[in-house]
Amino acid sequence: MHICAHTHGRNQIDMKKYFIHTYGCQMNVHESEKLAGILSNKGYSKCANENDADIVVYNTCCIRDTAERRALGNIGVIKGLKKQKPSLVVAVVGCMPQQDGVADSIREKYPYVDIVLGTRNIAMIADEIDKVLQSRANLKKRSDKKYRCFNNVLPDDYLNIDEQTPTLRTSYPNAWVNIIYGCNNFCSYCIVPYVRGRELSRSMNSVLDEVKRCVDEGYKEITLLGQNVNSYGNDLSDGTNFAKLLHSIDALPGKFRVRFMTSHPKDLTDAVIDEMAASDKICSNLHLPIQAGSDKVLRDMNRRYDREKYLSLIDKLRSRMPDIGITTDIMVGFPTETEKDFCDTLEIVERVRFSNAFTFIYSPRKGTPAALMEQIPYSIKQERISRLIALQNRITKEISDTYTGGVYEVLCEDLAPKRSDKVCGRTDSGRLVTFDGTKEDIGKFFNVKITQSRSASLFGTKEGDVL
Ligand code: 5AD
Ligand code: SF4
Repeated sequence: MHICAHTHGRNQIDMKKYFIHTYGCQMNVHESEKLAGILSNKGYSKCANENDADIVVYNTCCIRDTAERRALGNIGVIKGLKKQKPSLVVAVVGCMPQQDGVADSIREKYPYVDIVLGTRNIAMIADEIDKVLQSRANLKKRSDKKYRCFNNVLPDDYLNIDEQTPTLRTSYPNAWVNIIYGCNNFCSYCIVPYVRGRELSRSMNSVLDEVKRCVDEGYKEITLLGQNVNSYGNDLSDGTNFAKLLHSIDALPGKFRVRFMTSHPKDLTDAVIDEMAASDKICSNLHLPIQAGSDKVLRDMNRRYDREKYLSLIDKLRSRMPDIGITTDIMVGFPTETEKDFCDTLEIVERVRFSNAFTFIYSPRKGTPAALMEQIPYSIKQERISRLIALQNRITKEISDTYTGGVYEVLCEDLAPKRSDKVCGRTDSGRLVTFDGTKEDIGKFFNVKITQSRSASLFGTKEGDVL
């Protein structure tokens, strides 16, 4: 059974309501599940429309300027709602206000924002809401100054999301489980190490307990999260590492799948590849960001691997797991990328044949070394990304075609978009499959025969349940 978080049996009518906007990566999606858990424990219930909300939270991202602009635009729009409903509490949390100067600029430009928290103190939101409400009540009595919370401190060893922080999971049958916070890598283009702080691993026991709990509650797919999961355990000094964690999770009883993201190529060990190959539960699926195909650009990005190392990892993975689905992230338009460097990226994409690639236009991030370099005109970046996307689309389609006629185990994850008679889920290798089914099938495994492929999507029919 899928167990949802509770509402303490309070009457729906007098319950206060929350709405959370989430931007960015899976880590943010998962942290919004924690924010939802905290608010739900406080007696708030989720509402479908932000116009009905008593508290609106923006869980922000700053990886590229597009993510930032979208969040800022929406925070601007809420001004209208705040005017109509002065009792509204507005909170902006996560990566964006963790950047230098951003919390101050929010304080000035958005006077109706009540609470600003960073990436490692989001659990303070419960107390801060109380303080804001208390100060408003006091204001009615005397001329106190309105209380606003601006707390985005980022201590290296401190995290106020702890093992007790409730989580209101929103993606059944998938459960996200964070194993490591922060990043120590400082790729020269990336803001993440500045806004998420140094690596901090959870203990193996607490991760195992959480995975067990999820499996007991009926979750069928566990996705382990971290900016670099391969660094798991480096800071624990008890001999724990990612390969050992995978081994222990694989040994837990029950029928469930395990995926993880993200892996840094410089830290993907033979031991991890061995665990993946030998395990029952760990999917033959790996997200391994390459970023660029030129050794010079990789060096300038401070990625600390070269083409040869990356290609040797691909060979190792495929020799151990011939059907593995490998996905990647690729960036175009890094400041030092020439046309020839970009052609090296196209060439390696052609050679590796990723089952899918997330492609990005490099966006300068204030405070990172690459932002100080001379930048490439945007038109060149756009032209390069369209060539890259065209190439990857062709490869994605060719790989999809190889699935037709085969039978694959698929975990039914959801209704297909806008359908009630079709469902979708993924193969072990991570391909999306749409097939006949109803919402009762969600959370079950099926053998599905692939009858048709269309770019990244496959279509099929059930051949039977998997026990
Ligand atoms: N500009 C564009 N893309 C970026 N990424 C990280 N930083 C930037 C940036 N400044 C991409 C990388 C990373 C993914 C999550 O986002 O490809 O793997
Ligand atoms: Fe950013 Fe590099 Fe860390 Fe990934 S490994 S979060 S790209 S600094």
